[in-house]
Amino acid sequence: MNYSTDNLTQVNLTLYKNAEEASIYTANTIAALISRKQKEGKHAVLGLATGNTPKRVYQELIRMHNDEGLSFQNVISFNLDEYFPINAGDSQSYTYFMEQNLFAHVDIKSSNIHIPHVDGSSTDISKYCNEYEEKIASYGGLDLQLLGIGRNGHIGFNEPRSSFDSITRLVNLHPVTREDAKSDFGTLENVPQQAISMGINTILQAKKILLLALGQRKSEIINKAIYGAVSIDTPASILQSLPQVEYILDSDAAALIQK
Ligand code: PGA
Repeated sequence: MNYSTDNLTQVNLTLYKNAEEASIYTANTIAALISRKQKEGKHAVLGLATGNTPKRVYQELIRMHNDEGLSFQNVISFNLDEYFPINAGDSQSYTYFMEQNLFAHVDIKSSNIHIPHVDGSSTDISKYCNEYEEKIASYGGLDLQLLGIGRNGHIGFNEPRSSFDSITRLVNLHPVTREDAKSDFGTLENVPQQAISMGINTILQAKKILLLALGQRKSEIINKAIYGAVSIDTPASILQSLPQVEYILDSDAAALIQK
């Protein structure tokens, strides 16, 4: 149940008592957009995230597909980021994550799925990144971007010191990000040093942005991102002034919020 909305600061904050309820609310918001666009005969252009945070959201979307006939036929998806280099079939790749956690279980058309994955070393990465931007624009931009947040305040792989004007590009991963990915890759050495990520400006162009944060380990960065200074040292801080942003938090992630 939604038990509090922060009206005082203009920040659109939706608090839930646990991760389950926050995830279901997030899935319902995404499903409502897909259905509305379907009725209008339009595409729903979704920016999607990976990581632990959205897993339960995707499970709920799959349940709605199976039990309630939610169709993904009109969905065009663009993922935020992907490691570089990585094989798409590797279990740590975000391509694999999306297939396992969502795409294989719903009726999205494979030609409508976009993940910034570059194969091999011969690709012109900057050309590839520009084309990724152009593809998003060709669908009229993102209708909705789903975001998690890193403990260092990153959104996508826009690490601290990323320009707010940044677009899709090759980035170096921050030590905190690589440390957090260690459990997926077994050892720190196995975690790629780089990734391809939508830029902060790419994200800010989305018509609606949902930032979902769950658990106590996100409480410190959530307080800093929403109520601290807007600074490239905390990339997510740029979101705090934007009307299209909704923060969806469970009570653990919201624990340190000081209004
Ligand atoms: P997590 O990662 O969902 O695995 O916590 C979020 C992020 O780094 O953006």
